[in-house]
Amino acid sequence: MWEEIIEKLSLLDQTHLLRFVDELSETEKTKLFDQISDLDFSVLDNNITDEIRGVIEPPFAMSISEIEKNRELYRETGIRAIRDGKVGAVLLAGGQGSRLGFEKPKGMFNIGVTKKLYIFECLINNLLEVVNEAQAWIPLFIMTSPQNDADTKEFFAQHNYFGYNKDNILFFVQDQLPTVDTNGKLILSGKSEISTAPNGNGGWYSSMHKAGVFKILKENKMEWLNVFAVDNVLQRIADPVFIGAVIETRRSSGSKVVAKTDPDERVGVMCLEDGKPSIVEYYEMTDEMRSSREPDGTLSYNYGVTLNYLFRLKDLNNALKVQLPLHKAFKKIPYIGENGQIISPDEPNAYKYETLVLDMVKLQNSCLAFEVDRSREFAPVKNREGVDSVDTARELLKINGIEI
Ligand code: UTP
Repeated sequence: MWEEIIEKLSLLDQTHLLRFVDELSETEKTKLFDQISDLDFSVLDNNITDEIRGVIEPPFAMSISEIEKNRELYRETGIRAIRDGKVGAVLLAGGQGSRLGFEKPKGMFNIGVTKKLYIFECLINNLLEVVNEAQAWIPLFIMTSPQNDADTKEFFAQHNYFGYNKDNILFFVQDQLPTVDTNGKLILSGKSEISTAPNGNGGWYSSMHKAGVFKILKENKMEWLNVFAVDNVLQRIADPVFIGAVIETRRSSGSKVVAKTDPDERVGVMCLEDGKPSIVEYYEMTDEMRSSREPDGTLSYNYGVTLNYLFRLKDLNNALKVQLPLHKAFKKIPYIGENGQIISPDEPNAYKYETLVLDMVKLQNSCLAFEVDRSREFAPVKNREGVDSVDTARELLKINGIEI
């Protein structure tokens, strides 16, 4: 085993990971060796290049006025799907929330002012409204990371699951990927530990699969999963109208979108890429794309994604066969110095790698861009202050009559 590990690391030019091995106890050695055996080394492939984009065109989107015309039909179809147990919800809560600068899981953040109102609580309250409307529980799968799993579970238990039926909640932990320094070297975060970070919000599907959750979905004949971010405190989860619209229009997936506030808003928008659903980031758009308008006057690339997607399970299996592209982000990553001391850098020093849910949209045959009113459904808490912050989310909660 020892020889195999040395050989593996030599081939990858990563033997520095063993530099404290003589100081380790047998237990620590086993821990390090186990981590090396289990680690996904794909991040070391140097072929993470900028994606080559296909032909980008405006998408078809269902506008709010279009939705209104068929609201009742969509609602009934959605409610039926929920009552028949075909719909589950997946809360993506494995992120690090570094922009918010809150050490605990983001969902534990208190967005209340005169009373306590946690982000997790807002989401559960929103989901409970649908449960009451449909008179049926919606299974909720919560993705955590190894770093925040214990805190998250304890918090939910302490708060009695905010009134949700705990038998309908299942936590699973997302996979990790190693971090890499600017010289292409993996990083030691301790003498017997290699630095890793959650593998991005696109990791939910493979992590859920690994955790054995798909067996449960299959046994229960579930068909749809509504995947959503932890930080939009106003979002409607398992929204029957959204689910019904995707089913009635025979799409294999759906994405809740909001109209851009102005052509230059920094948001990824829905598009078609080589005729398939896709998302184009604001920095990938040309000036012409940004200002282009449709005959009715709306921007051609008008619909920003809100990280609230509906996926049809049977179409998702393809996602397991395909390796989602890795995106890298330059971050401040603690490491162990020459003398064994832990160093927390003040500036970004290394890369973390992520897969993204939006790359799963590209694997779908069709995706309904479903417009929602941003003042009623979009209040992301990304930053402490300024745009998409605690302050803006509080304002929006108040406007929507939610007591904070
Ligand atoms: P963000 O892209 O905002 O990332 O996540 P983040 O890690 O929460 O925050 P920053 O960028 O460090 O400030 C969007 C959603 O994806 C989830 C987050 O929890 C959030 O719901 N996510 C992100 C995961 O579940 N896992 C990840 O590895 C990354």
